[in-house]
Amino acid sequence: MKILIVMGSPHKGESYWGANRLEDQLKTYPDVNVEYLWLRDLTIKDCLGCHACILKGEEKCPLKDDTSLFQQKMMEADGVIFTSPVYSMQISAQLKRIIDHLSYLWHRPRFFGKYAMALVSGGGQFKETLNYIKLNTKNWGFTYVTGLGIAHHDALLPKRQSKQEADLRKAADIFYHAVKSQKHPAPSLTDLIGFRVWRINARCLSESNPVDHAYWLGKGWFNTDYYADRPVSFVKKLAADAMEKVIHRFLQSVYQGY
Ligand SMILES: Cc1cc2nc3c(=O)[nH]c(=O)nc-3n(C[C@H](O)[C@H](O)[C@H](O)COP(=O)(O)O)c2cc1C
Repeated sequence: MKILIVMGSPHKGESYWGANRLEDQLKTYPDVNVEYLWLRDLTIKDCLGCHACILKGEEKCPLKDDTSLFQQKMMEADGVIFTSPVYSMQISAQLKRIIDHLSYLWHRPRFFGKYAMALVSGGGQFKETLNYIKLNTKNWGFTYVTGLGIAHHDALLPKRQSKQEADLRKAADIFYHAVKSQKHPAPSLTDLIGFRVWRINARCLSESNPVDHAYWLGKGWFNTDYYADRPVSFVKKLAADAMEKVIHRFLQSVYQGY
């Protein structure tokens, strides 16, 4: 089992300490191989906002940097742990920069079958920061398993330190067992509606975005209930059908091309 730990901090600090604790626990399982990937060691340039990746294909990005290497590393892993300090109530600039570079994955997701978790470090604002990582990784196709926020370990009272260490061990165990199981949850109604919205875009905006259209066609997603082969109940499918009609009519009433 290949686990990639993405380090979003610019230094070896608290989130590295937490990542080490996750690694210790993961390595209690003999089939686990852990690799660290420091974003600070990659060249990831600021997005120019040209939309080339979205409209013409990611290979058309004018910036020559390590974005595709990063994507390849994620593709080679079974599970990816995204770590970040909380900076100004959100993820670090290093992590945001690569997430912006990968925006095209919302249009053309590809990490189905892989698992993600998040570890953030700071004084608070964990929920918002974790949710941001969850939102992106889910929409790239990952099954998001769990997220954990940790405080400065040395500043905690001893009983809090013990709890934090236990929480880290537990999160690592949960992640390991999720990846090992190779099971994925059935999509929620929100997931199904999200799929339908992206499908409306891929179908209706085929002239302005032929890359998305070709990708969706190639995946066969114009004829499926969801991106991946997951159980979709009859009731949820009916609800998604109805919502798709409502959303499509709304888009027609606001934008050109629908
Ligand atoms: C520039 C900067 C901004 C920060 N902003 C926040 C913040 O908004 N909320 C918070 O709880 N902690 C904030 N912190 C504290 C860090 O999140 C905290 O020190 C964290 O443990 C650092 O993780 P690291 O050592 O892995 O980089 C900030 C620290 C720095 C350096």
